[in-house]
Amino acid sequence: MDTPQQPLDIALAHAQRLSGKHLYAGTLQAALSGKTFPVASPATRLQIGTAADGNADDVAAAVGAAAAAQPEWAAMSPRARGKILCQAAAQLTQHTEEIATLLALETGKAIRTESRVEANVLADCFEFYGGLGSELKGETIPFAPNMLVFTQREPIGVVAAILPWNAPLMLMAFKIAPALVAGNTVVVKSAEEAPLSTLFVVELLNRCLPAGVVNILSGFGPSCGGPLVADRRIGKVTFTGSVDTGKVIAHAAAERLIPTTLELGGKSPMIVMEDADLDRTVAGAVAGMRFTRQGQSCTAASRMLVHRSLRDQFVERMAEKVNAMRMGDPLDETTDIGTIISTGQYDRVRSYLDLGRQIPDVQTLQLSAMPEAPALKNGLFIQPTVFVGVDNDNRLAREEIFGPVTCVIPFDTYEQAITMANDSDYGLAATIWTSNLQRALDATRRLQAGFVQVNQNIVAQPGLSYGGIKQSGLGKEASMEAMLDHFTQKKTVLISRD
Ligand code: NAI
Ligand code: MG
Repeated sequence: MDTPQQPLDIALAHAQRLSGKHLYAGTLQAALSGKTFPVASPATRLQIGTAADGNADDVAAAVGAAAAAQPEWAAMSPRARGKILCQAAAQLTQHTEEIATLLALETGKAIRTESRVEANVLADCFEFYGGLGSELKGETIPFAPNMLVFTQREPIGVVAAILPWNAPLMLMAFKIAPALVAGNTVVVKSAEEAPLSTLFVVELLNRCLPAGVVNILSGFGPSCGGPLVADRRIGKVTFTGSVDTGKVIAHAAAERLIPTTLELGGKSPMIVMEDADLDRTVAGAVAGMRFTRQGQSCTAASRMLVHRSLRDQFVERMAEKVNAMRMGDPLDETTDIGTIISTGQYDRVRSYLDLGRQIPDVQTLQLSAMPEAPALKNGLFIQPTVFVGVDNDNRLAREEIFGPVTCVIPFDTYEQAITMANDSDYGLAATIWTSNLQRALDATRRLQAGFVQVNQNIVAQPGLSYGGIKQSGLGKEASMEAMLDHFTQKKTVLISRD
């Protein structure tokens, strides 16, 4: 009798099978140039497969497939499309373990605390949007007695979705599920650091969706993402990533006058008032900083504004909790914290660590322990780091580090805390921790951010509009409004009764 295969072997087999491939027109396709680039595990640094190195020719073929499939997809009833998305959700749910293992393998995100959670949110998001087909409504307008005037929502056409690597499956779902239920077809461009898990998911989706409705390319930003945004058949771009790339995409979209949704990161404040429940706040700080994801989150609580009277206690208790977390093999069920995604990000985060260590009067806490297993000796692990006593004007407090690094910034009055919280180029998320309801309500009005929470810090969820202001981007994701506002266009129709 055969012994059952281990999840790792199954994931490695998928990585091999999907190596060097895009998926468009319903089938896996090699890059037209024949070129590939290596995909390695950031924990072991061993190669697990390759990805197709897409260029303008691949873009033309994939967009062609999406454009060809779009009229028929749009002609289906919205609820019929929704039912297909629900079938897709069931398909994803059946394969959650394989998806999660492949994600952990290629991104270094720990299986128990991150990858499995993300694989479940992915399926949940398809189910959520699958139920929203009948919400694609218009209005009737009482304009004149001799006319029937109404609006109707129509799909935009072919949507380009450009992905980052930090939560590639969840963020892909936030983009493609609403686009699809609204009657658009999609071409995804995966992040070069996480091409295989997204390709596997698109392959599973293609078991339920008609050929050409959802397509995915891998490749680099300028050579694959660039031609995708510039293709004249693309009607909308939805992007998550850095501010700089977001601006490049916004410029390219402006040339063609097409809409964009841009989710561009943050430097999110967490305000801890003197009357906060300390146990709850410390647990919230550890979760909110997304230490389990090595801080590679756009909503990470990377500026902790803490009332001076609580600072020492808060820091001590947070250090205790993070020290109890285990950094190690992302595929090990006992691991809490995995790795940084790539050598580029690893060097970038370490440059901020060097910067922090040089600031006079700032205390540096390096927490948890580096893994000792020989197989992980070259892994991209970085100890969670807390810089205590940072000034809100310092680069550490102003720039998105996108690593397991947070700053504790003391304050004396509530007014100071609000002023510092808002003194940032970003405006994605913010939290306040207090037992004073009036103050909490006041803060929810005054904090300049798109996603504000009181006494908790949970991640984005299907059903809740998510998206930033200021340099954090444009538009919302994850909600019904996001589908209506960003993946449909409204037509006004006037019918004469005379
Ligand atoms: P990036 O913004 O350069 O890459 C994101 C995606 O955009 C990738 O798929 C990439 O191939 C694509 N891209 C890059 N240049 C492009 C172009 N000219 N045209 C079309 N597509 C293009 O982000 P990167 O380099 O991976 O990370 C750098 C920093 O960005 C991180 O340290 C972090 O601060 C921030 N970031 C923020 C994220 C968020 O969740 N908001 C996610 C990822 C990165
Ligand atoms: Mg980049």
